[in-house]
Formats: sequence, structure tokens, C-alpha cells
Amino acid sequence: MPCSERTQVAIIGAGPAGLLLGHLLHRQGIDTVIVEARSREYVEARIRAGILEQGTREVLAEAGLGDRMEREGLLHGGIHLRFDGRNHHIPMSELTGGRQVTVYGQTEVVKDLVLARIESGAPLRFECADVRVHGLDADEPVVRYVLDGEERELRCELVAGCDGFHGVCRPSIPAGVLSIFERVYPYAWLGILADVAPSTDELIYARHERGFALHSMRSPSISRLYVQVDPGDDVGHWPDERVWEELHLRLACEGFALEEGPVLEKSITPMRSFVASPMRYRSLLLAGDAAHIVPPTGAKGLNLAVADVTVLALALASYFADGSATGLDEYSDRCLARVWRAQHFSWWMTTMLHPDPSDDAYGGELARAQLEYVCRSEAAATSLAENYVGLALEWSPQPAAPLTRSARG
Ligand code: FAD
Ligand code: PHB
Repeated sequence: MPCSERTQVAIIGAGPAGLLLGHLLHRQGIDTVIVEARSREYVEARIRAGILEQGTREVLAEAGLGDRMEREGLLHGGIHLRFDGRNHHIPMSELTGGRQVTVYGQTEVVKDLVLARIESGAPLRFECADVRVHGLDADEPVVRYVLDGEERELRCELVAGCDGFHGVCRPSIPAGVLSIFERVYPYAWLGILADVAPSTDELIYARHERGFALHSMRSPSISRLYVQVDPGDDVGHWPDERVWEELHLRLACEGFALEEGPVLEKSITPMRSFVASPMRYRSLLLAGDAAHIVPPTGAKGLNLAVADVTVLALALASYFADGSATGLDEYSDRCLARVWRAQHFSWWMTTMLHPDPSDDAYGGELARAQLEYVCRSEAAATSLAENYVGLALEWSPQPAAPLTRSARG
């Protein structure tokens, strides 16, 4: 007999989505168990996102998770767009009534969330092997897994699939239920973390004929930089000197000097857009990368995960308080409205800033024309800015406005 336990919500995955959902539900008095495949050290060290939308910062602060973020996070009110050796500043804060983003690494968000979970005493199981979800069709979900060589089962009312793009929850949904929308890009990002003070005050997104480059940061003494590479490329082909050489070439601009420093980490990330719809199947609710992926150029992935679980936590609170299923029934549509806005923005930023090796010269000129437009038109820059700092969390589907006589013509 497997060792068996019961909870209200089984949360699969201890990334930002699963950990934040667990935290929000714990504050509502809802029981959860978080089941994670990897170790705590691995989860806390995985270097990924770096930019929090204003709404994400507010959610974390309101949930009592903001102390270190407020102390150590860097507030940014703009970004630089660089092409043809020219730099253009987009004053996002000015264009959006004072909204800003926060530079605060996903590693730090995850460390804060793990600590809060451990302090709460609620179960968080690392290193769970062979995680499986059963009983979705019978609406009696059971999560089975192996911990320390022992088979365990977790009976629950609902399962939150927060296990990322390669997790087991989405594949547990029967074939034919989900519609999949996907685009894979003909390039990838090679990212480095460098022990050197950033050479810029705000992030630089550069389009160059040799490929895209991004200068980001993690703190006043740590830089994060990316270069566009071939999706089949290998970090072995990229010794540190070659990475710095490309960064110098692609970020070059009058008056700009890139400082080099020891490389602490180096990895290649493929670029993909992906949406699985709907985000719910009976008692399984998908959230974050388990349901959707964006290419990182728009800095949206972590922010979307936070937006999903904010909506989900409210729906679950009302379900467990008074049995109302309305929030759960609306969950997928409410999230997907925001997801598709972010999909478009991330695709748009990506295709505008990356030379596409499979495209013709016409495509390249279109992208450059779009960049020129964003840099010259306040209306276009405002559109970029409001998407980048993040739309209101309540970005839900609006009923179509009836056409007025004049609009009908
Ligand atoms: P994940 O972080 O993937 O977490 C899923 C968790 O589930 C993991 O801990 C995993 O180990 C676990 N898991 C997987 N399978 C199982 C299983 N079978 N059983 C149990 N557990 C399992 N986003 C931004 O908003 N801003 C940025 O600036 C940004 N930059 C990025 C840069 C890079 C290079 C990359 C790769 C991503 C970036 N993102 C960015 C995206 C962001 O990192 C992701 O969208 C975010 O991690 C999604 O969180 P999640 O919790 O949904 O999924
Ligand atoms: C990062 O700092 O890792 C980062 C910043 C902005 C992006 C993507 C990644 O668009």
C-alpha cells in the first residue's frame, strides 16, 4: 500500500507559479501540498527571468513577499533600443503615467517564495520522482510519486499543473481536448551572467546585422547579457572571449563602452511561442509555462505565471468558501485574454529585434521600419511601453462594443 495523504489542492511544480499559488492559498486557509521533481538547490539556482512588471511587484508586496525585493530590486523607468549604431531611449515611465519595472532575478523571487513556504510549515516536497496525475476523468484526482524510494499518493479535490513546459500535467489531458498554437523561431539566445558592474543604466535591446544582443543586469555589480545564436549551436563553441567580442560588436554605439568581467554562467535558450487552450480540464488547472511560453524578448513569461496564479487563487478561494465554481469556469478565458496580448507583444518585440536568417531582405527592411517608427512616434513608443511595464492584472475579455451608426459608416 502506498503511503497516502489528502489535501485540497495538489500543486505540481515549485517554480514561481506553483510556489506563489501555494503561498496565496495558504493565506486563505486552503490546504496544499507542493510536489517538485528537482532539489531545492537546483530550483533556487536556475537562472532565468530578471524583469518584474509593476503589477507583479505589487502582487508580491501585497502577499507579504516584498521586503528583500523592495530593498534590493532596481526600479527602471525606461529601456534603450539600439540599431544602426544609434541609441534611442524609450521613457516608459513618462509614457505610462509613472509605471516602472523592477530588475529582480527569478532566482531571488524563488528563494523568497521557498523561504515563506518553509516558514509557513505547509508541505513542500523536493526531489519527487515519477510524478503522475490520475483520476481526472472520474473527478477523483490522485497524484502519485516516489519519494526516498517510497511510492506515495496524494488525494485531492483539484490539481494545479504548475510544472512548466516539459511537465507531466499538460500531457495528462486526453488527446483532442487541447488546441495547441505554436511557433518556433530560427534562432536562440546564448546568455551569460558576468561578475561586472552593468555598463548601462537601463536595459539595452540591440538589433545588429550580426544578430540581436541584450544588456541586462541582476544588481549594481552583476550583469546579464545575451546574444542571438543559431538554435543548433552549442555553448562549447562560445568561449568567453568570443561572447565578449560579439557583444562589443552588436552593442557598439558612440559614447558606449562595454566592461568585461569573469563569466559565472553560460547557457543557450531556444525561442518558442506556445499556447495550450483551454487552461483547464475538469479538476486540472494549468498555470504558467505549463500552459504557455513566450520568447524572452518581451520579458513576459514569469509575469504571466504570476498573473495566472493570481486569478486562480481568487477562483479557488471562492470555490472553497462557498462552493461557487464560476471563478474556476472563467479561469481559462480570463487568463488567455492576457496571455494572447503578451503573445503578440513578445512575438512583435522578437521579430522586430532579431535578424531572421531564413527571411529575405524585404522582411529585414520591414523590421527596421517598425523600429524606426517606435523610436520616432510617441504613439508607437507608448504602445511598447504600456505592454512592457505590464497591463492591469484585470486584462480580461471585454464584450464587443456595439457598432455605432458612424462606425458602421
Ligand atoms: P517553471 O519555472 O518552469 O517551473 C516549473 C517547475 O516544475 C520547475 O521547478 C520544474 O522542476 C518542476 N517540474 C517539472 N516537471 C515536473 C514533474 N514532472 N513533477 C514535479 N515537478 C516538475 N520571464 C519574465 O517574465 N521576464 C524575463 O525577463 C524572462 N527572462 C527569461 C530569460 C530566459 C533565458 C528564460 C529561459 C526564461 C525567461 N523568462 C522570463 C521566462 C520565465 O523564466 C518563465 O516563464 C517562468 O519560469 C515560468 O514559471 P513556471 O513556474 O510556470 O515554470
Ligand atoms: C534578463 O535579465 O534575464 C532579461 C531581461 C529582459 C528580457 C529577457 C531577459 O527581455
